[in-house]
Amino acid sequence: MDTKVLSSGIRYSNLPESYVRPESERPRLSEVSQCDNVPVIDLGCDDRSHIVQQVALACINYGFFQVINHGVSKEAVERMLQVAHDFFGLPVEEKMKLYSDDPSKTMRLSTSFNVKKEKVHNWRDYLRLHCYPLHKYVPEWPSNPPSFKQIVSDYCVQVRELGYRLQELISESLGLEKDYIKKVLGEQGQHMAVNYYPPCPEPELTYGLPGHTDPNALTILLQDLQVAGLQVLKDGKWLAVNPQPNAFVINIGDQLQALSNGTYKSVWHRAIVNTDKPRMSVASFLCPYDHALISPAKPLTQHGCGAVYRDFTYAEYYSKFWGRNLDQEHCLELFKN
Ligand code: OGA
Ligand code: NI
Repeated sequence: MDTKVLSSGIRYSNLPESYVRPESERPRLSEVSQCDNVPVIDLGCDDRSHIVQQVALACINYGFFQVINHGVSKEAVERMLQVAHDFFGLPVEEKMKLYSDDPSKTMRLSTSFNVKKEKVHNWRDYLRLHCYPLHKYVPEWPSNPPSFKQIVSDYCVQVRELGYRLQELISESLGLEKDYIKKVLGEQGQHMAVNYYPPCPEPELTYGLPGHTDPNALTILLQDLQVAGLQVLKDGKWLAVNPQPNAFVINIGDQLQALSNGTYKSVWHRAIVNTDKPRMSVASFLCPYDHALISPAKPLTQHGCGAVYRDFTYAEYYSKFWGRNLDQEHCLELFKN
């Protein structure tokens, strides 16, 4: 291949060898369940206890849900998707100025997942940004398209607000004080992955992202309305998360699994690709403060088998996570008591 990224404007007629999964690891798209979808929760509903109850059920049964009437303006969402699209439409020479395969960089364009560690690559390019505090990170963000910084900043502020609201609902749904999660996570980091999945000549042989769990606390995903691709594992079966207008997809990350003592699961999910259309998604990750001590909440360890996980700092967890390949065993397994 002539460039490191896939979004070079070249349309591949065959899947390059380095993207082909061994037979036993392929997506088997015909087996994906079509008769279920993750719950859609209306955050505009007046009955808060009803919302809390729906959050609890969704987190227990799926680890995933979608939210509507979430308070992020339609305009901010539309502008975010447009500028993401415009960014990946830039000439490849322009984009390559931002390329890096070093996961410790706070701003980079990259491809696949962890190019230097993985055996088989994934059919994805992504722009990864740190987003909090904005004044620290915005200066290093792309200045092309010229409106990028402004649009993405506005979007990040609104998504963060939504994240806090969700953490309150999740705390309450676990029977904890409303501000429990927020207190434990401290001054939360916020990262963004703008994912671009180009049309793929052989979607049955590869992934956009293979099955993985998110290492952070909470993920707020904006997915392309036109092109589906996200799937979650439920009861041993992959389930497509069909895009819903004006919705975000929310999922519990590894840190909330630990904090909830395993009551809520950081569920395996993956992104598949298709032959016809590029797909985009914008993932916002809320992460604990580096030195936050992640520990199963006391009230949740008093019945049954006590604390399932040992205490750890987020910094310790994160370095373990990036030292592995994405589709290995659940990283939390390494922190079990
Ligand atoms: C991720 C992720 C899914 C998607 O970025 O962690 O799971 O649909 N993305 O792009
Ligand atoms: Ni993910």
